[in-house]
Amino acid sequence: MFLLRPIHALLALICSVNAFPAHQSLAGLTREELDAVVPTLNFVRPPNPPGPLADDSTKLVNDAAHPFIPPGPNDQRGPCPALNTLASHGYLSRNGIVSPAEVINAVQDAFNLENSFARFLVFSTFLVNGNPITNLMSIGAKTSATGPSPPPPATVAGLDTHNNCEGDTSMTRGMSLLPLQPYYSLQTPLADFFFGDNHSFNETRFQNVVNFSNKFGAGKFNLTVATELRNFLFQDSLMHNPTFSMVSPRLFTAYAETVFPINFFIDGRDKSGQLDLNVARGFFQHMTFPADFHRHDGAISNEGVDTVFNTHPIVPGANQGRVNSYKADPTSATLSEPCTRYTTFVERNIKSLYPNPTGVLKEALNVNLQFLFDATVAAGENCVQVFPFGR
Ligand code: HEM
Repeated sequence: MFLLRPIHALLALICSVNAFPAHQSLAGLTREELDAVVPTLNFVRPPNPPGPLADDSTKLVNDAAHPFIPPGPNDQRGPCPALNTLASHGYLSRNGIVSPAEVINAVQDAFNLENSFARFLVFSTFLVNGNPITNLMSIGAKTSATGPSPPPPATVAGLDTHNNCEGDTSMTRGMSLLPLQPYYSLQTPLADFFFGDNHSFNETRFQNVVNFSNKFGAGKFNLTVATELRNFLFQDSLMHNPTFSMVSPRLFTAYAETVFPINFFIDGRDKSGQLDLNVARGFFQHMTFPADFHRHDGAISNEGVDTVFNTHPIVPGANQGRVNSYKADPTSATLSEPCTRYTTFVERNIKSLYPNPTGVLKEALNVNLQFLFDATVAAGENCVQVFPFGR
């Protein structure tokens, strides 16, 4: 009788494994249960990432094959105006549930994002916010549409998650204005995750972009505007958000995003470097290309970021639970340390989400980590590969 108990338990487990529901989270299962369940999940081995475009000249992107259709109630949209737009025009799945290869193809095809940069952005984001087993990620909120999630501390919670690309000091994302909010800023509504909403378009924050464009760009968004706005957003969060943090990897995305509107949202036939604010609103708020939109002429990534950073340099760091208590974090990569960024991202960020993966989960993570490392090599960075889960 005593010996039979484990056999019964095992049989029960095998039965429950076979019947494991397609969208149930794996949270709450014991180590043994996980070891039994994870191999039964439908592991979608990711294909090798797409290479660069054969022809990266400008072309019509807002074409008849990609009409704008507003998202339905169950479609995911999130903090990235580019991915939102690509989903609303059908360059990405319109429901906002995407695979890494799909995103790389879409950002190359429609925006001409340079291949190694696209791969770096996508795999670093996917490893934190996507489901490595089903190879799916939400461009917005957490949803069961990405399949059964690996257990915590993994989050698999979509791009809205405040832990990777998404971070403090957004240009147009933030909560609605609450007059009695204790940290209310007179100049901008509160942008950061600390204040409750890190992903929704906010009109008042957009008006802040308009004001900076009027003051520094004669009514257009350009590199000078981007430079002054990024500095302002840093100071604003510093003075109003006690949990404000600006360390790698967010440091890299915060600066890159500031120049993205100039590099990608200006029509590829226009070489002025001046982004019209109605066009900007189209992307940021309405998630749509302007009529007749042509992509950038030639692959491009974060050109201009050095100007933005060097004009108002900062050290990576964070507030210490109080506003204006910023302390440097010497363990964070700086913008000129891409290999430190890679190593700490893998060994700190990824390892903290997946402390001890086994089976297909470990295999899936290793495949995606390899893709991430390949992207750093393709970008010309001579980094040493790290293997947090063994080879
Ligand atoms: C050409 C390609 C892309 C462009 C032009 C672009 C543009 C932008 C811009 C301008 C923002 C800032 C929004 C704001 O601060 O108001 C942003 C945010 C973001 N993007 Fe993208 N993006 C691109 C590709 C990607 C990719 C490939 C990913 C990941 C798969 C991604 C993930 C994000 C995330 C998570 C945020 C939120 C960051 C925050 O907290 O502000 N983006 N993007």
